[in-house]
Amino acid sequence: MRVLIGSSAEHVARIAADNVLAGLAHHGHGKNPVLGVATGSSPLGLYRELRVAVAEGRADFSNAQGFALDEYIGIPDTHELSYRQTLITEVCNTFGLPVSGLHTPRGMADSVEEIEAAAHAYDQAIKASGGVQVQILGIGSNGHVGFNEPGSALRSRTRIKRLAAQTRIDNARFFDGIEHVPTHCVTQGLGTVLEAGRLVLVATGEAKAEAVALAVEGPLSASCPGSVLQLHQDAVVVLDEAAAAGLK
Ligand code: F6R
Repeated sequence: MRVLIGSSAEHVARIAADNVLAGLAHHGHGKNPVLGVATGSSPLGLYRELRVAVAEGRADFSNAQGFALDEYIGIPDTHELSYRQTLITEVCNTFGLPVSGLHTPRGMADSVEEIEAAAHAYDQAIKASGGVQVQILGIGSNGHVGFNEPGSALRSRTRIKRLAAQTRIDNARFFDGIEHVPTHCVTQGLGTVLEAGRLVLVATGEAKAEAVALAVEGPLSASCPGSVLQLHQDAVVVLDEAAAAGLK
């Protein structure tokens, strides 16, 4: 695992973008990028840097596919708070990954069985694409990656998960009150995430320091799902000073 510390939010974003592009070149030979994309605040600067790279001719996502990490259950994918719509704004409309190439787990169906079948098909679709070349990640203050909350199996696949109480509190800022935050989601499993060619995790701010320290230097444990990065051959963790404060 490589841990890189930026001196400002902009620096963190630039380092992360450089590592995404280098990862695509290495794992995808630069053609038809397959990118794993995260929602949330952490990758927003990175997405803006990818837009700069496209504008400067250093990157081209017009033939790319994107696989989202997760989606809420019970929010239609046309709703502005769905992760699909969020990613259309933050990924497709920012650096030009085509909407037709954006895959998001299915969070609405008539039955749990249908959602489970779609989750299984999602893992198959990732495989059929040739695999995610670079997976962008954030980390929750409780150590989750994707919505693999503490206690998630280290080899889990895309599936339904209940959101942890802390995650619902953290994400209430996007909703009109915590009671509107969904209770369940579909998330890529930790085993699914680990199959990507490179992982680029971005974390900033002191609220992430404890989770980062446990993920990077703690024991490999389901109680800190981010610790699975220790198992990956090509994991890059990009931090600001505040998020790195708990590292030895
Ligand atoms: C997002 C996701 C989550 C977030 C994490 C950090 O698709 O799966 O794991 O990356 O909750 O969120 P932010 O970046 O908003 O602090």
